[in-house]
Amino acid sequence: MSRTIHALGGRVSAKVVLRKYRGGRGFRFRIADKAVEERLRTGLETVEAEIQRTISCASDSRVAELAGHVAAAGGKRLRPVLVLLAAEFGRPRHEGVTRAAAAVELIHIASLYHDDVMDAAVTRRGVVSANALWGNRMAVRGGDWLLARAAQLAAGLGQHIVHHNSRAAVRLVEGQLRELMGPGPDEDPVQHYFQVIADKTGELLASSLSLGALQANASTAHVDALAEYGARLGEAFQIADDLIDLLSPSERSGKDQGADLRAGVLSLPVLLARADHSPQGAELRALVSGGPVTDPWAHQRALDLFRDSWAVARTRTMMRDRVAHARFALTSLPPIPARAALDSLCDFVIDQAA
Ligand code: FPP
Ligand code: MG
Repeated sequence: MSRTIHALGGRVSAKVVLRKYRGGRGFRFRIADKAVEERLRTGLETVEAEIQRTISCASDSRVAELAGHVAAAGGKRLRPVLVLLAAEFGRPRHEGVTRAAAAVELIHIASLYHDDVMDAAVTRRGVVSANALWGNRMAVRGGDWLLARAAQLAAGLGQHIVHHNSRAAVRLVEGQLRELMGPGPDEDPVQHYFQVIADKTGELLASSLSLGALQANASTAHVDALAEYGARLGEAFQIADDLIDLLSPSERSGKDQGADLRAGVLSLPVLLARADHSPQGAELRALVSGGPVTDPWAHQRALDLFRDSWAVARTRTMMRDRVAHARFALTSLPPIPARAALDSLCDFVIDQAA
């Protein structure tokens, strides 16, 4: 497994970098306490071992290879980090915390198998996607298998985890379906977009935080504040992801640049570009208003125009609004190192979309 944690910086303010994948950009946040940092490090190692154990116990080694492909490529493990940090608001030393973190990550990875089939993506996390390697039918089954294993893991942890995870999975699928179906006849496309991202990304992040806090017996007020933070961070994170799709070359993002554009996904910058009637936005509007941008020249031209566009600038502002809401949700929590770490995750999201 290529993922490691590097502790950088001084004695009181360690900067933790979770490597995204070989050669990829890191995932940075600060933890101003050695004991918490150590707990996070060992917690993540346990989560990793749990994920590996869950996958490797497949009855056929070829199933394990298929289902383990995306997990082995690395990944930020953002959701497990959120589970573990949320547990700091209660009693964090609990086997159920790391198991819950592994179950949440398995749901996320399962959704990526399905997502890459839907996007016809060729790369994921800097490696060839499962669908490109094994074909769509196998990739979908790989995702199904992971989802089923996540359910088994959760079932051993108690009813509330099953409840949280199943609700998150339902909303993930609903978000994805809503995205596919597009806005209803009277629905504002931007409002529709925000509903989609709340479902497909915000909910699992909120759920990760609630579960971590619940597993550690944190108070209801803390659980609620953390869920609110997670929902808003998730939205900001998804908006940043949409910007990365347009702005980051594949070597940096580990995904195909402009894949959403090519697939005709109406991400926020695309929606805003379509509604930009200024003379400066005219060429970009024309390029993105006709559905998927598949022609290689038009695709490259659109990517070039997006870079300095009003649509991208406005998307960044909307992302920062969500980040500000996420930060605000943290203010009701006690000022422990985990709160500062969650706050610094907001900086990471903003930096990513810079
Ligand atoms: C990545 O978003 C994908 C998601 C956040 C959710 C995808 C959900 C499904 C495909 C439904 C199936 C769900 C389960 C639980 C099996 P993105 O496509 O915007 O980001 P990307 O750039 O990483 O592809
Ligand atoms: Mg996708």
